[in-house]
Amino acid sequence: KKVVLAYSGGLDTSVILKWLQETYGCEVVTFTADIGQGEELEPARAKAQALGIKEIYIDDLKEEFARDFVFPMFRANAIYEGEYLLGTSIARPLIAKRLIEITRETGADAIAHGATGKGNDQVRFELGAYALRPDIKIIAPWREWDLNSREKLLAYAERHGIPIEMKRGKASPYSMDANLLHISYEGGILEDPWAEPEEDMWRWTVSPEKAPDKPTYVELSYERGDIVAVDGERLTPAQVLAKLNRLGGENGIGRLDIVENRYVGMKSRGCYETPGGTIMLRAHRAIESLTLDREVAHLKDELMPRYASLIYNGYWWSPERLMLQELIDASQATVNGEVKVKLYKGNVTIVGRKSENNSLFDMNIATFEDDRGAYNQKDAEGFIKLNALRMRIAAQKGLKFV
Ligand code: ARG
Ligand code: SIN
Repeated sequence: KKVVLAYSGGLDTSVILKWLQETYGCEVVTFTADIGQGEELEPARAKAQALGIKEIYIDDLKEEFARDFVFPMFRANAIYEGEYLLGTSIARPLIAKRLIEITRETGADAIAHGATGKGNDQVRFELGAYALRPDIKIIAPWREWDLNSREKLLAYAERHGIPIEMKRGKASPYSMDANLLHISYEGGILEDPWAEPEEDMWRWTVSPEKAPDKPTYVELSYERGDIVAVDGERLTPAQVLAKLNRLGGENGIGRLDIVENRYVGMKSRGCYETPGGTIMLRAHRAIESLTLDREVAHLKDELMPRYASLIYNGYWWSPERLMLQELIDASQATVNGEVKVKLYKGNVTIVGRKSENNSLFDMNIATFEDDRGAYNQKDAEGFIKLNALRMRIAAQKGLKFV
């Protein structure tokens, strides 16, 4: 009866809009979000109007995205399969949340999105939507229609008077997704995992080869695991991301080229630029290195891959992710202080860290210089002997394990 469509204003979602009106005869509400993808949103309004839409939502979600999604994720040092900083994965639950809110505000009973039936995004949108509104109807045109080639899509657009001028002037040969945290590239020549991307694919970073010959130093201030100031200037979460993206981008930081395992079972090759996030991950580990208890830090590290997979696979709104988040957030109470970072030709080097009130680092104990402090070297003898006990017993009995 009424459907809320996640609408970018691009060709694909414009075709979806028309197709929904035709196929379902339903009223369509469009929702377009600014999550820092760096595109004008007003054209989306004009296009939706031209297609006869009366209820048009255009929301600036940049702060909410940075504060309630990206920052909590970075408290966990989340990284998928050792490499991917989850830039697209973390944006989907926010879109799902807002889509559901809009169904309530407009009396709609369904949502629609432009993710294909082969990817992760469909799973993330839909798991989120079901978690937040169990009776929601979901329409995923890519899984239903037969417009499965570029030509068919263009022909459909032509037939229905949808302007075909490609998004952002020059048509990109890649499937891209951008927000405040990252920009991603998939498809095109990247479908051959052996093919190196053209230099001009990368939009946010200079190549490390072309980066300045002089390093850039940045000082980051942390409160409860979140960056609250850059070089002494207090910033909001979205401002922190924007600033670190700029500094990282100028220094060739945060390029990634990987083959990853999608939740639906296939391997897929993707390239990513996450300049600010790459700095944030390194710097957060540095402030934690000073302020977290060893066992707390190690436990976080054990849980991290699980937490990252939950986000990658679309379980942001699941009870287990929410539970893990409570645990991670609790660990951050002492994560306060400053980290000094050096950015140079694609590298993020930590060159200093300090914490006025929460440092567990004790110079008097750690020093090589003077021994008569709180640490008694003699204690180590028994510590080692008891830890060796079971191995000594086995060796005495001549037992071999391999
Ligand atoms: N492979 C990445 C992920 O699953 C990026 C997906 C990009 N999505 C897109 N619609 N282009 O998170
Ligand atoms: C898509 O299939 O819509 C994009 C790729 C993905 O979701 O993984």
